[in-house]
Amino acid sequence: MDIIRSIADFKYKWKQWKQNDVTVGFVPTMGYLHQGHTSLMERARQECDIVVISIFVNPLQFGPNEDFEQYPRDEQRDVTIAREAGVDVVFIPDVKEMYGSGMKTNIAVSDITSVMCGANRPGHFDGVATVVNKLFHIVRPDKAYFGMKDAQQVAVVTQMVLDLSMDVEIVPCDIIREEDGLAMSSRNKYLKPEERKQALILSDSLMKVHKWIEEGVTVAQLKQLITAHVDVVPLSEIQYVALYTYPGLKELPAKQKVMDIQETIIVALAVMFGTTRLIDNVVIYGGEHRV
Ligand code: PAF
Repeated sequence: MDIIRSIADFKYKWKQWKQNDVTVGFVPTMGYLHQGHTSLMERARQECDIVVISIFVNPLQFGPNEDFEQYPRDEQRDVTIAREAGVDVVFIPDVKEMYGSGMKTNIAVSDITSVMCGANRPGHFDGVATVVNKLFHIVRPDKAYFGMKDAQQVAVVTQMVLDLSMDVEIVPCDIIREEDGLAMSSRNKYLKPEERKQALILSDSLMKVHKWIEEGVTVAQLKQLITAHVDVVPLSEIQYVALYTYPGLKELPAKQKVMDIQETIIVALAVMFGTTRLIDNVVIYGGEHRV
């Protein structure tokens, strides 16, 4: 497995690969890898000749009061995990290599970034779209793999690729959970023991969603039920409980019965535990609940 730190070296490597017409699978990450990332690498390994991951904690996607400095980093451990997952190249640029020349270009995907995490984290998805766009230009993958825990990110990147006619297939992959249900995230490491216990309320409330829909609740009632369920846990502070079409993230009529909705929808939530922000979601595919 190669570790490449410069854009020029990566591009040189790519030209060598492409002489043999291989397919390149790409998993962009911010490091501190966990099983969620491993599952993406394994999927890429199955589907592509060459597997590349990037490790880059992208300052553009963090707000001024967010955790850029504290974001967990452990390069040695990440490299071992990537090697064990059969990755061919780990691309680890530093901030100077990525943005040293002074970035004057910003990629902004409109509309679907104004709700959910986009509403709570202004500028976050510009940062994501800009770095992913830049990484796609460097890595030039045939397929790129993203976890559905960040479902809005998947929608944003997919929209950008469509709008800019980019030659990469976005592959959304299932959320990977701890045995007790908590969605895997590098930020879970921040949780204090009591917060970790109470954080189960996210997956627990989403597991009840199907039952509530079958009972005939409306859009507004479903949001209220989830909110009330999460609020029972004293350390939780809800940022949003959302229900939209997916991936278009369009509003749904509050009084509509969820079981009657024909489109694919997402039920998503963001909850603070102390200073740790957790997100989780369930996507319900068109008409799954029609009776
Ligand atoms: O999901 C992440 O880890 C990041 O948002 C990504 C896609 C690597 C861009 O920095």
